[in-house]
Parts: sequence; C-alpha cells; structure tokens
Amino acid sequence: MRSLMSVAPGGPDTLQLLDVPVPEPGPGELRLAVRACAINYPDTLVIEDKYQIRPPRPFAPGHEVAGVVEALGPGVTGPAVGTRVIASAPHGGLAEKLIARAAHCTPLPDGLSFEVGASLLVTYGTSYHALADRARLRAGETLLVLGAAGGVGIAAIELGKAMGARVIAAASTEDKAAVARAHGADAAIVYPPAATDGKALAALFKDACGKGGADVIYDPVGGDYAEPALRAIAWGGRYLVIGFPAGIPRIPLNLTLLKGCDICGVFWGSFVEREPDKHRAQVQELLRMCLDGRIRPEVSARFPLEQGAEALKTLSGRKAIGKVVVTME
Ligand SMILES: NC(=O)c1ccc[n+]([C@@H]2O[C@H](COP(=O)([O-])OP(=O)(O)OC[C@H]3O[C@@H](n4cnc5c(N)ncnc54)[C@H](OP(=O)(O)O)[C@@H]3O)[C@@H](O)[C@H]2O)c1
Repeated sequence: MRSLMSVAPGGPDTLQLLDVPVPEPGPGELRLAVRACAINYPDTLVIEDKYQIRPPRPFAPGHEVAGVVEALGPGVTGPAVGTRVIASAPHGGLAEKLIARAAHCTPLPDGLSFEVGASLLVTYGTSYHALADRARLRAGETLLVLGAAGGVGIAAIELGKAMGARVIAAASTEDKAAVARAHGADAAIVYPPAATDGKALAALFKDACGKGGADVIYDPVGGDYAEPALRAIAWGGRYLVIGFPAGIPRIPLNLTLLKGCDICGVFWGSFVEREPDKHRAQVQELLRMCLDGRIRPEVSARFPLEQGAEALKTLSGRKAIGKVVVTME
C-alpha cells in the first residue's frame, strides 16, 4: 500500500510516498481502507518533532479519517467489514490503509460523504467539548472566535450559534472574515497579520464585542493575539486555550483577577481517552447536527495522496479555509 511517510524531522517536502506492507490489526483494532484524511494543524508540527506526541519513524501523519472497514483484529466484533466509518488515530491517516482502535471508529451515516465525515471528528469534536464542557457556553452569551475561518474556528462559530450565542468572528483577512459570516457569525472583524500593537488590537476586540465584553473567547491562534483578546473578556468570562500557531503566549495573571475570569485549557484527545462515553454521545450529536444542516463542515481544498505535502503547506502557510482534505480514491 502507499503511505506518505515522515522519515526524518522536517517540513512537508521531507515526506516520502513509500510502498509499505499492508498492516494487520491486533486485538481491539481494525483495518480501514482510508478514503479521506482531513489535515489538522498538529500534522504540520508532528513531522517537525514540534508536537507534544512524537511517533517513532517512519510514520505517516494524519489523525482524522473516513473510510471502509476492511479487516477486524482478534476479538473485535464490529463495526462489521464493509461499514463506512469515521475514526481518529494518533497518526497514520495519510496512507491507503490505517489501523485504528475499534472503539475509536463511528459508523458514518449514508447521507454524509467521506470528505465531510473526515472533517467532523477532531475539529467539531474539539469545539463541542471546549464550548459545552469547558466554557459551559449559555444562550445569549457573547462568544469571540479567533482564527475564525480555520478548521476548529468555523466549527466554533457554527456550534456557538447552535448553542444560542452571539458570535463575533476574528480573522486575518477580509476573505476569511467573509467565510466566517457565511458560516453564521453575527459579526466579523479583520485583525492584522502580525499582532505587534497590543493596545490597538485590544481596542479592536473590545469594540467588536461591545460594552459587556466577550463571555467566552475561543483562541486557536495564541501568540501576541492572546493577551489583547483576554483584555476584551467580560466579568466572569471563560478563555479557551485551544492552540498556538502564532506561538505560546505568556499571560499576566493579574488580568484574571481584574476580570474575575477563568483561563480554561482544552485537550480534546485526552478528553476522548478519559471520558469515552461522553465523547461518543457528543459524536452522535455532531452527526445528527450535520445531517440536519445545523453544522456544515467546509472542505475548501482537496489533494490526492501523492500531493499530500501541499495539503500540509496550505495550513502551515496560514492559507487554509475550513478543512483541507487528502483523498485516496
Ligand atoms: N486543544 C485541542 O484539543 C486541539 C484540538 C484540535 C486542534 N487544536 C489546535 O488548534 C489550532 C488550530 O488548528 P486547525 O487544525 O483548525 O488549524 P487551521 O485550520 O490552520 O487554523 C489555524 C488558524 O490560526 C491562525 N494563524 C495565526 N498565525 C498562524 C500561523 N503562523 N500559521 C498558521 N495559522 C496561523 C490562522 O487564522 P488567521 O489567519 O485568521 O489568524 C488559521 O486559520 C492548532 O494549534 C491545533 O493544534 C487543538
């Protein structure tokens, strides 16, 4: 089978398309014929040894897939061979076959394509867990979403609206702001591509959120955007720490005292391991929401496996809108 593999630390151009033996599933596992693998920002980091998880090389990046069950490991009773499923795995998605834990596979309803299915689990799963469990977002509250046209950003807009919030989107270009509006944001602002003037940026966020400030801030960007955003939080607000494409920020803790606010870490992968029943219920709810149109994963770019490096470059180059997907058909 073909697999796009990281053989040495480096950027997307270091990935090699290799012919490797078809893997056999062990106990608790199954083998999928991968049809689509959605790219997430961590895929750009893990191949450079810059992510918290460092798989032994060679490995294929990619941890969010949709495909068809092809073989079951010893003792595994389902999903049955032939079932269309979505799955998450630590890595290995950029390949024609993937070994996944059976417990991490969910049947994909007929009405949803492989591309949409592959784009649902990590992105919408993270935003659902963040907004519902960590922020306890309530109807009528104001939600500020940074990086709002990215993968988790669009998911946060749509889920925030579905939960009844007023959603203010923020992104680095007018095109991205337009996408955020199209996905339901009540308003969208454009911030500069480099957050050098913290005071001006804080004023921009405060102005967009209005007098009370943002009850919840969803931050998948970090860097110099984080502190100006926190300065726009409401009394009793919740600041969601999602990710750091712009760098890991340092926050003056006196702000939390002055605002009476909470800074909440979000680690979806660990949540899935620690609270599997709750996670499974959330995935079922996301599939229902997708089928009835309350959420609409946006697949803006598709690449065949042999051009998988280009898919990763789209994210690392800050060019991705919604989801970028690699297809194996
Ligand atoms: N905590 C968790 O459990 C969890 C789960 C999934 C993902 N994440 C994290 O969430 C973040 C976003 O992931 P994603 O898959 O949604 O990525 P994405 O689609 O590439 O979105 C990231 C956004 O960050 C902004 N950005 C700012 N500086 C950037 C830079 N130097 N390079 C690239 N983007 C930059 C971009 O928006 P603007 O151009 O509009 O600023 C971009 O749309 C990542 O850090 C990822 O690790 C965390």
